[in-house]
Amino acid sequence: MKPRRQHVLLLWLLLSSGVLTEAIEPISTTIAVGVAATLTAFIASYPNMFFYFHECCRPEWISFNRTGLQADLDKKLFGQHIASRIISKAVNGFMTNNNPKKPLVLSLHGWTGTGKNFISKLIAENIYEKGMQSSFVHVFTSTLHFPHQSQFLEYKSQLQQWIKGNVTNCERSMFIFDEMDKMHPGLIDCIKPYLDYYDNLEGVSYRKAIFVFLSNAGGDSIAQTALDFWKGGQSREEIKLKDLETLLSLSVFNNNQSGFFRTSLIDKNLVDFFVPLLPLEYKHVVQCAMAEMEARDTKPNQHVADMVAKDLIYFPKAERVFSVKGCKTIESKLDYYL
Ligand SMILES: Nc1ncnc2c1ncn2[C@@H]1O[C@H](COP(=O)(O)OP(=O)(O)OP(=O)(O)O)[C@@H](O)[C@H]1O
Ligand SMILES: [Mg+2]
Repeated sequence: MKPRRQHVLLLWLLLSSGVLTEAIEPISTTIAVGVAATLTAFIASYPNMFFYFHECCRPEWISFNRTGLQADLDKKLFGQHIASRIISKAVNGFMTNNNPKKPLVLSLHGWTGTGKNFISKLIAENIYEKGMQSSFVHVFTSTLHFPHQSQFLEYKSQLQQWIKGNVTNCERSMFIFDEMDKMHPGLIDCIKPYLDYYDNLEGVSYRKAIFVFLSNAGGDSIAQTALDFWKGGQSREEIKLKDLETLLSLSVFNNNQSGFFRTSLIDKNLVDFFVPLLPLEYKHVVQCAMAEMEARDTKPNQHVADMVAKDLIYFPKAERVFSVKGCKTIESKLDYYL
């Protein structure tokens, strides 16, 4: 049986706080020796105890929770039936394959506040015990890490070193590239070798890593398709991936603002899935507000959620169908209404 982390932690706390030491002081030496022997036996039977306290690249800290991811996508992610299905299939398939041919590469696209970072977080939480706090999950934000176009060459080699170093440290590493649309279009090309079908590069295998790109690029064409469906009286759930996929990869590839501009990642088919995020409607914003209240341990209040949702700006102006900022400003709006 695997020792539960809580048990080991409890023992550790007892030892380090001195409770045990104090407790055995008045007792006879025989008992003290007995306790020491029990402890020694305990530690001997759990030689990997160290791994329970310090995050390591091991199954104790990295193991895929398939049902957890599905439940999170079903219950926590609103209005994204296409994204939910792709993410579930892509991550399940990849994580249950012991010998993937290449790393998993996902590219998430959509308007602001539609759930791109949120989805990355759900994936991380169902793979890494420490979720986004894991030292094996790396987030690169273009404006933060690569702010100056003039230092492009420097960034290129830094980025390669970062990725190589981190994957050498743990093959099950996850890299999230945020704000891809603000990244120098040439920069992403430098990571192409890591995403490709290589057994290994200079002795390092990248095939178990996960790369997630996030961007607003293509968001307008997704929104336009969603609006066309709405105007045609079709339900949102009727929108299929094939209605968006080609449009999306083309608009991303040909958009010189996208960070993917003419990149070989796309024409060499190294992106496994383009994941479109639909613009959110009023009812989804209400769901976000209700979920946020629950997360704050406040009783979800429909009236407050409605007030928050009504406060947002919707597009097109006349029909007010899609929230321009998705669920993005809900948190601060709730502060005001609660
Ligand atoms: N589809 C959704 N379902 C549930 N919650 C959502 C959804 N979209 C957004 N949210 C909520 O709104 C917050 C902000 O969303 P998120 O950071 O994922 O937006 P984004 O798509 O990354 O936007 P941006 O393009 O501005 O970076 C999330 O933390 C989450 O609480
Ligand atoms: Mg984001």
